[in-house]
Amino acid sequence: MTAINEVVDLATEGRVAVVTVNSPPVNALSANVRTGIAEAVQKAGADPAVTAVVIHCAGRTFIAGADITEFGKPPKGVPLNEVNAILEACPKPVVAAIHGTALGGGLELALSCHYRVAVPSAKLGLPEVKLGLVPGAGGTQRLPRLVGVERALEVIAFGEPMKAAEAASHGLVDAVVGEGSLKADAVAFAEKLIADAAPLKKVRDRADKLGADPAVFAAFRKANARRFRGFEAPEACIQCVEAAVSMPFDEGLKFERDTIMRLMVGTQSLAQRYVFFAERQAAKIPDVPEGTPTRTIAKVGIIGAGTMGGGIAMNFVNVGIPVTIVETKQEALDRGLSVIRKNYENTAKRGRLSMADVETRMGRFTPTLDLSALADCDLVVEAVFENMEIKKEVFGKLDAIAKPGAILATNTSYLDVDQIAAMTKRPEDVIGMHFFSPANVMRLLEVVRGEKTAKDVIATAMGLAKTIGKVGVLVGVCHGFVGNRMLAQRQREANKLILEGAMPWDVDRVLYDFGLPMGPFAMSDLAGLDIGWSRETSKGETPREILCEMDRRGQKTGAGFYDYDENRVAKPSPVTEKIILDLAAKKGINRRQISDEEILQRCIYPMINEGAKILEEGKAIRASDIDIVWINGYGWPVYRGGPMFYGDTVGLPEVLKVMKEFEGRHGADFKPSALLEKLAAEGKGFKDLK
Ligand code: NAI
Repeated sequence: MTAINEVVDLATEGRVAVVTVNSPPVNALSANVRTGIAEAVQKAGADPAVTAVVIHCAGRTFIAGADITEFGKPPKGVPLNEVNAILEACPKPVVAAIHGTALGGGLELALSCHYRVAVPSAKLGLPEVKLGLVPGAGGTQRLPRLVGVERALEVIAFGEPMKAAEAASHGLVDAVVGEGSLKADAVAFAEKLIADAAPLKKVRDRADKLGADPAVFAAFRKANARRFRGFEAPEACIQCVEAAVSMPFDEGLKFERDTIMRLMVGTQSLAQRYVFFAERQAAKIPDVPEGTPTRTIAKVGIIGAGTMGGGIAMNFVNVGIPVTIVETKQEALDRGLSVIRKNYENTAKRGRLSMADVETRMGRFTPTLDLSALADCDLVVEAVFENMEIKKEVFGKLDAIAKPGAILATNTSYLDVDQIAAMTKRPEDVIGMHFFSPANVMRLLEVVRGEKTAKDVIATAMGLAKTIGKVGVLVGVCHGFVGNRMLAQRQREANKLILEGAMPWDVDRVLYDFGLPMGPFAMSDLAGLDIGWSRETSKGETPREILCEMDRRGQKTGAGFYDYDENRVAKPSPVTEKIILDLAAKKGINRRQISDEEILQRCIYPMINEGAKILEEGKAIRASDIDIVWINGYGWPVYRGGPMFYGDTVGLPEVLKVMKEFEGRHGADFKPSALLEKLAAEGKGFKDLK
């Protein structure tokens, strides 16, 4: 065996040269890996004793992708496109032996080999689109030649990996080999190639699968318009595959190269790569380091089987943790469980769960009206009405019931976790676990750290978030925590804007076009305008109150801010318009034309400012945590990186200037935070905070 460098070895097994990459943890394509492979293959190619070459990786995976820490830095070593050209030009058959995940550059390298074998558990994919990029080393040119245009479009523009068997069925993998015998099987495969005098299959020379009907591209764009809305990279991916069809191979490669260079310096890819790292960063808590002991959570209790309780419970049941769920009335309990069952049955109808699984999951529930049934739970999540007196009572009782060491969590949206904790003799065991609706779907979990919450309780809650497939973000106690506290800023301005001159559909359109899933008024209609409203206390002083009094309570009543047809398609409502105009007249407001730009700034800049206050107060650890909250809890478009990243994109001096203008015109709601003032004065952004 010869060491080519620290991470690549060359050995021979009979007449087959085996190139082994050993660069833990995931054999990412660092400069060393690229250069090592290029040298090893050239050496093997020139060695008369060698008749075939196998590329194989040590450790848990084949090359899992680019080394993204090299992004944005001056290039070093042999570029991947050159390594690929060397592989493809090797005069002896080169076989990629794939296990683990062959992603991005890893798959592009494998595509440049003449043959590919993979173990059944291997996954292959080109996820670059998720970082706002296109594959940049021939992936968009070689993959369609192997699997055909339609499948290539999906793989490249969706970025989802496929399993070995599927890859084999599409011609991406030539043989699926033994799970535990990859290297030996790959060598045997290579020996057979030699014995059969098999041709060198250069993917670049193939064209038999490129004869696509041009209508395929238009159809693909149309079918996925919603999914791709606002994103630049999926369209760029489609164009690269079009180039594979319309241009000679080398021109197509150049087109792909130009495309990735353009995207690499664009705001969207910067934002998407930022989010990728920010999400990993959110798990890191300075004073609760990795390795902090955690408590074992083998059984969970949920109090309240309403909208949230049911969804929260599903998360645990889905990963095999049994749940005891408590209600005050049998009827509420039955209703809660039937909603959960329906949810699972719908998933089963869409083919994503078997009916047997539905029963298994339902079987993990213990429904009860008896709070003392929670005595054996390791974690209890309270999701009763948003009312401090009720929550205090529940926690007082729970303190007497729960076993020592149990974690007592509240799902409150706004209330003071410390006051709730104070109802127990064990405030160190109390924490906020703030899920987002629908709780079985939304990825965000705000983990609310109380004044006395123990570190192992925090570590356990953050770990549990991961176990149930959520992104946990640690936040401090304040009204609405991070997400809802910032949302309140936007809501206030949206409500003011419709009296000053805009209509609800104007505000909604601007925010939708910005990339949010829906604007605040469409959102209110969906949630129900009567949340927190009652006829007894209604003063009829806001459009919402007036709409509620008229029984226009949102989608569920067929009308709210909008009118809805039988398919729940929204139309601007003349009724709402009249309510708003009358109310503005009554309040003596002189309505004016409001530009889209003002709508956007009025809604978003105060959120950025509030985010800065949250940081000043230490209610979030870092600006990127705030962005992760907004992306995963509120559908903030990933390609804009979150509100704080967006503030940096606009430039904080500009945000500050506009806030000051608004402060002059509209008052103290726009008073800039000290942190915003300071960063703007220093010419810095939130990204510069350490
Ligand atoms: P909900 O009204 O749908 O459900 C509350 C349930 O708790 C009801 O079924 C009620 O019968 C039950 N309940 C009340 N007192 C109880 C007690 N003492 N023991 C057992 N069960 C009791 O309310 P929802 O929307 O599920 O909200 C629950 C909590 O989650 C609130 O604190 C809310 O602020 C919070 N939350 C709500 C979100 C939402 O979008 N709905 C989002 C995030 C948090």
